[in-house]
Amino acid sequence: MSIKDMSIKVEPLKKKDKKQTLEFFYKTITDSFKTEGLFELGMTDTCKHEINNQEKRISSSIRSGTPYYLLAKDKNLVVGTIAFGRPGKAIEKAFLQLNKSSNGVVEIFSSFVLPEYQRKGIGSLLFKAVKEEIVKRGYRLFAVNTGYKKGLKFWGEKLGKPSITLKKYYYPIDCYVWIKEIR
Ligand SMILES: CC(C)(COP(=O)(O)OP(=O)(O)OC[C@H]1O[C@@H](n2cnc3c(N)ncnc32)[C@H](O)[C@@H]1OP(=O)(O)O)[C@@H](O)C(=O)NCCC(=O)NCCS
Repeated sequence: MSIKDMSIKVEPLKKKDKKQTLEFFYKTITDSFKTEGLFELGMTDTCKHEINNQEKRISSSIRSGTPYYLLAKDKNLVVGTIAFGRPGKAIEKAFLQLNKSSNGVVEIFSSFVLPEYQRKGIGSLLFKAVKEEIVKRGYRLFAVNTGYKKGLKFWGEKLGKPSITLKKYYYPIDCYVWIKEIR
């Protein structure tokens, strides 16, 4: 079924969504580590760390609005996410290596779609929606990073070649970073 035949809504994360969104991240992050072969590379602790990180970010978002999450829902089911906030360590490292300042830059992260809902345009819909939010707040530059092969394909299709590759940043895998103007 394509996105046109579904009634996908995009809305900001609210307190009532917390439990379901945490379950969503547990499922999508574990699935990503499985399908990308990262458990075989000994990255079990990284997987747990990523899930814990989402828990902290979601609690902070509900408490203070930062970072800012958007959810894609199919009826009441959370099927996708995207978020933005202050640049994290990988982005800061990329700016340092490029000899550029990250002042005024926002990071887009947590781009995930449930495995059974992927390749239907939901990731693209969320990216469009998050750019609108960022523009409203007056940002002109955004950065994204990924270590996932699927992420590289998705962001590569949207943004072209990465601005920089941080070799083995998520040891033993590389981290791809894009720094782009919002258009
Ligand atoms: C990356 C992700 C969010 C994309 O979401 P999605 O809803 O499947 O993306 P879309 O359907 O909008 O895809 C848009 C385009 O990106 C490219 N693309 C997306 N996933 C792809 C894949 N697995 N293989 C090849 N190209 C892909 C395609 O060009 C696609 O257009 P097409 O389907 O018409 O060919 C999703 O695959 C996901 O959750 N992956 C696991 C986590 C992840 O890698 N996150 C990325 C950053 S952390």
